[in-house]
Amino acid sequence: MSVKTIYPKTGLKGEVSVPGDKSISHRSVMFGSIASGITEITNFLQGADCLSTIHCFRKMGIEIEQKPDRLLVHGKGLHALSAPKETLNVGNSGTTTRLLSGILAGQDFTSVLSGDESLNSRPMGRIMTPLSRMGAHIESIRDNGCAPLKIEPGALHGIRYESPVASAQVKSAILLAGLYADSETTVIEPALSRNHTELMLGGFGADVTSILHSDGSASAGIRPCKELTGQRIKVPGDISSAAYFIAAGLLVPGSELLIRNVGTNPTRAGILKVCEAMEADITYENLRNIGGEPIADILVRFSELHGTTIEGQMIPTLIDELPMIAVMAACAEGTTVIKDAAELKVKETNRIDTVTENLKAMGCDITPTEDGMIIEGGKALTGVHIRSYLDHRIAMAFAVAGLVAEGETVIEDSQCVEVSYPEFFATLGSLS
Ligand code: S3P
Repeated sequence: MSVKTIYPKTGLKGEVSVPGDKSISHRSVMFGSIASGITEITNFLQGADCLSTIHCFRKMGIEIEQKPDRLLVHGKGLHALSAPKETLNVGNSGTTTRLLSGILAGQDFTSVLSGDESLNSRPMGRIMTPLSRMGAHIESIRDNGCAPLKIEPGALHGIRYESPVASAQVKSAILLAGLYADSETTVIEPALSRNHTELMLGGFGADVTSILHSDGSASAGIRPCKELTGQRIKVPGDISSAAYFIAAGLLVPGSELLIRNVGTNPTRAGILKVCEAMEADITYENLRNIGGEPIADILVRFSELHGTTIEGQMIPTLIDELPMIAVMAACAEGTTVIKDAAELKVKETNRIDTVTENLKAMGCDITPTEDGMIIEGGKALTGVHIRSYLDHRIAMAFAVAGLVAEGETVIEDSQCVEVSYPEFFATLGSLS
């Protein structure tokens, strides 16, 4: 086990460039692999999750060159993956597992996907149900609704699926299978989840439609496709990684941080709305757009934050940032209520439990609920040993908490940040 010790700081100053977006990096390799021709990817996230995606496609015969400044994916077309000789190891990555299942459902060979202990306990029924309805043969080998999953060839049909959860992984798995179906496929979700699949698949030449309904629910449709075409993709910086430095700049007295090149797609940018609601001093510079994805530089200054309520259709737009937001709430004046966020229970850990346990240990007044938590902010935090339970987002959120806690904060199993942000501790340490 590796540990990192964090000490309180004041006056963080400087600039941070966060690594490439994890969701977009995964998709660029996946879509590039099933496109025809070369896909060139710059600012690809070299985190363990995205490396799992690369590993799986290499096992299916795709040549992926890792150059110092870019990745070259030699796509072979929709129907040219080869049967893997062994189980595909998806590591800790839910995105790899669920999106890849959609692609594998359309192949003419049998494959098995399996990951680490956390991954193999996360729910896969949410993709097995719609993919089976499309005609896929997908089975939980231990019959517990989790990976390992076995996927056998099956003729796919277009469906109209009303997903009970707003999940981009579910939506994307179905849309990817829809590429291989015999008619149009539509997914309806109760709130719009991140839309990188729709944006990027459209860029690769797929016929994708998306509609945001007046009640906030959303539909995405795809027609079967003959060919995708390799693209040049510039991956924006990951707002989920930027979140730790946004919070550090706001929480550490006397700070002013500029976070460069952050993807601000509205389906991901809920944390920025929460910052505004908490009365954070935050400004946007150099707004631009690459490949349909909005990008900005974000300037944050130390702020006296105030509690807020986070609920409803906003939740999917900040689901991965909730551990960090909970720490911000602990440092804010007043009460913060997080609700409608039961999805937190099925992330890399049950994040209602892991956030509550660690914030309580630091002295925060926090009450877990069935679908979120209630935080009474404003009490000083105390440094303690933080149990990350190998959850990268818990390790990083509590490292930031350590910057404003009294005494030493020790992050256990700190190596888990490799999953999404290998340079996190180096970057945090470089700010003074
Ligand atoms: C992701 C979607 C979200 C998010 C995950 C990445 C994606 O999961 O939590 O980190 O890349 O599609 P859900 O689809 O389960 O909400």
